[in-house]
Amino acid sequence: MNKPEKFTSHGIAASDMDAEKLATYPTTAFLSRDYLEAEKARLWPKVWQMVEREEDLPNPGDWMTYNVADESIIVLRKDDGSLKAFHNVCPHRGRQLVSVPDMLPGKVHDVRGNQRKSFVCGFHGWTFNQDGENTYILDPQDWHNKLTPEMTCLSEVKVDTWGGFIYISMDPDAAPLKQWMGRAGEILEAHELSKMRYKWRQWAIYPCNWKTAIEAFLEPYHVAGTHTQLLAYGDYYAYSKQFGLHAVSGYDVREADYKTETSGGTTRSGKAGLDPRVSTYELIRENYETVNYSASTETLVKAASRLKDELPEDATPGEVIAHWIASAKKDDAARGVIWPEIPEDVQKESGLAWGLFPNQNILHGATYALCYRVRPYGDDPSKCVFESYALERFPEGEEPETEWVYAEPTAENWGAVLEQDFANMEFVQKGMKSSGFRGPLPNPHQEQKVINLHRNLAEYIGEGAPTLLDIE
Ligand code: FES
Ligand SMILES: [Fe+2]
Repeated sequence: MNKPEKFTSHGIAASDMDAEKLATYPTTAFLSRDYLEAEKARLWPKVWQMVEREEDLPNPGDWMTYNVADESIIVLRKDDGSLKAFHNVCPHRGRQLVSVPDMLPGKVHDVRGNQRKSFVCGFHGWTFNQDGENTYILDPQDWHNKLTPEMTCLSEVKVDTWGGFIYISMDPDAAPLKQWMGRAGEILEAHELSKMRYKWRQWAIYPCNWKTAIEAFLEPYHVAGTHTQLLAYGDYYAYSKQFGLHAVSGYDVREADYKTETSGGTTRSGKAGLDPRVSTYELIRENYETVNYSASTETLVKAASRLKDELPEDATPGEVIAHWIASAKKDDAARGVIWPEIPEDVQKESGLAWGLFPNQNILHGATYALCYRVRPYGDDPSKCVFESYALERFPEGEEPETEWVYAEPTAENWGAVLEQDFANMEFVQKGMKSSGFRGPLPNPHQEQKVINLHRNLAEYIGEGAPTLLDIE
């Protein structure tokens, strides 16, 4: 990376980020094929990764494949109701046990099925039960009866659940998932993600590195420059804070005098100086409608629309928010959607959205979440599999039926706001290749999640660590 002479670099620690020191990181992580190979060797086989929502594999025998880089994993719901996961490879001569074509736009997202009692390899017929044990080999005597169960079983993968998601780790020595999620997991779980269900789910093959894509959703610093229409009713100043592997961002105010403890998430009042009864409604309506009807709910938007009729003209922003939340909560309760009681200490820390290492982003609320996951696509560092989905708490029995829908990155498919994000991502990927780019200058207050991603990636990859900028 080209750096101006006056920058001298030092390594960066979590405490440096807490102190909001200036930092940069190399662009190798986005551009280099060697780095992509290093991710295959040292990142993906070592980290806990979200596979799918639990409700997608509800019954004994339900199974699916999860694919990332060169790895393919089979996840199965066994007859006893527990989950089991294996590398999708036959121990005989290495055929994929289940054939998984490359993800194909509009055609293949993953491979899944039901009522599976055993897996039979299509090449020579070796067979495996739900525990991955080998139950059939043609002519085992030809190996002089020396094949042992350990040599002929499937390679097991760790599987666990959190927040209604199925996770896997290919690392036999992986720390428990709960420990991996840490405080971020506790805070998000207080929002009862496990009781939410898909509202919609979409994916695309997109022309940028997977990190370029996830970073486009890690920080609200870009809102003023990218989503200018959103500024009419709200300010998007944000803090960000590392939580070890994971990191959070939340709405903030530039002047300390105006700070309130409840302003971190989407249920906030509109801009100072406007009638909060109106601006709160306009802000949430605009967000909801232009982010593909997510990051809030119909209940919240409707309750906000009544604020002007239900509250006096001189209601303060604090009173407006309290009334709005209370009436939405009541409306939801009447239709059988009971909000979680979120402890105050959790509320204070919970912010607007979490970057979950390495490749997820969850923007959460009491009854909804807008989520992103990005994976590499093939061996091209300039391509990714981009996924976004909305979760919501529905009255029992009213959960919509959804499946992964391939959607070209247009405003029509994804909403006006995501289309604006898409309009940057491809050109960030291109711009970073410029010989005139001296390296990123992330905002130490607002874009700490991005710095934290690179700090943690470097722990796995062994290169690419952010460095401090000492400007003389
Ligand atoms: S490769 Fe699977 S049985 Fe031969
Ligand atoms: Fe955006």
